[in-house]
Amino acid sequence: MQYRFPPGFLWGAATAAHQVEGGNLWNDWWEYEQRGRVSYRSAAACRHYDLFEQDFDLARSLGQNAHRFSIEWSRIEPEEGAWNQEALAHYGKVVRALADRGLEPIVTLHHFTNPAWFLRRGGWSRGDSPAHFERYVARVAAHLGTAVKFWLTVNEPTVYVMQAYILGEWPPCLTSAWLAAGRALRNLARAHVAAYRILHRHGPDAKVGFAHSAPLIRPCDPARAQDRLAAAVRDAALNRAFFHLIGARRQSRRRAASLDFLGLNYYTRNIVRSSGWGLGAVVGRACRLPHHGDDGPASMTGWEIYPAGLRATLENFSAYGLPMMVTENGIATEDDTVRREYIRRHLAVLGEAIDAGIDVIGYLHWSLIDNFEWALGTTARFGLAAVDYETQERTVRPSARYFERVCRENRLSGEDD
Ligand code: FCB
Repeated sequence: MQYRFPPGFLWGAATAAHQVEGGNLWNDWWEYEQRGRVSYRSAAACRHYDLFEQDFDLARSLGQNAHRFSIEWSRIEPEEGAWNQEALAHYGKVVRALADRGLEPIVTLHHFTNPAWFLRRGGWSRGDSPAHFERYVARVAAHLGTAVKFWLTVNEPTVYVMQAYILGEWPPCLTSAWLAAGRALRNLARAHVAAYRILHRHGPDAKVGFAHSAPLIRPCDPARAQDRLAAAVRDAALNRAFFHLIGARRQSRRRAASLDFLGLNYYTRNIVRSSGWGLGAVVGRACRLPHHGDDGPASMTGWEIYPAGLRATLENFSAYGLPMMVTENGIATEDDTVRREYIRRHLAVLGEAIDAGIDVIGYLHWSLIDNFEWALGTTARFGLAAVDYETQERTVRPSARYFERVCRENRLSGEDD
């Protein structure tokens, strides 16, 4: 099959500040890294804070016309109420560097990290957390104003809350802190709504959304009521709760007041199996049994390769009646032929969905370059270009050349099947 993508379709890759910049001395992750509370240190990461122009040259040379990156709040406000003009100016330069290369900037305002002072005073579970975020957003919006059209307020709020408050993997590394988790999710929702208003005040034509982690959640055995219930509970918590909190309704004729488009991060399918008693019975556990459709090699992160899930996800979220952008999709692998196949199959599904009338405005691959993958450190290789962490050399992978052709031609040609 051949797929043509709509004119003006956004093609690019995504990164996040702490994963690529290096030397983020003032954020909570850095603090936890130094104290050994998380397994790996980000250190210089990809030195992208200094090498951003070179990295954007790379993105342009790969035929891309858009780029997603995140602004590091802790650089802008390293101490409470102390604003770093140089850091603001830096991100101004970043946006200009993208524009100069014909890359549409897509800016994330919160991608998992917080200023260390913010976490010390209680982080997102505190009632005044949205007010702090608003002040930061107002500074950024005043500075970057109309130079940026596409904004993502927060990245994967549900994943952040799970990892930080339930699973204990990310700062503040709390386990089963359900009440704090609930408060944090509500405050992130309030922060999103406030940021939406601020961004529109400064840029009336701004398009504001957030990046939602959208795993396809399915029961292990659809004939088992317990599995169906576990999948439904998970789906409600992971795929619906945040939308509800920001006032977005499915199938509603009235568009969500605080969303102009929907950012979807799709990687894999989660199959859940209800087991034992208590929580495990209600929300289930990740199923370890083989499942039909799991036909590819798993990734370095153990995630199943399941392109059909992208179609189901897009169909599912089209119920909000908003344009959608795939804000992340990718695979950690040492075998680049697997990455090429991953890209090809997901883009075929994307093309098919668009042909069927689903409104998708862009696709951003995760990631432009290998980077610091949170609790997995630099072991997980997600990049279109490899990074040698000793020399900071980038080497374009063959899969990136494949993706380049699609970006340049704005179509997926049938010859690739
Ligand atoms: C997503 C995150 C991103 C990256 C990828 C692999 O959940 O948004 O920062 O870690 O997964």
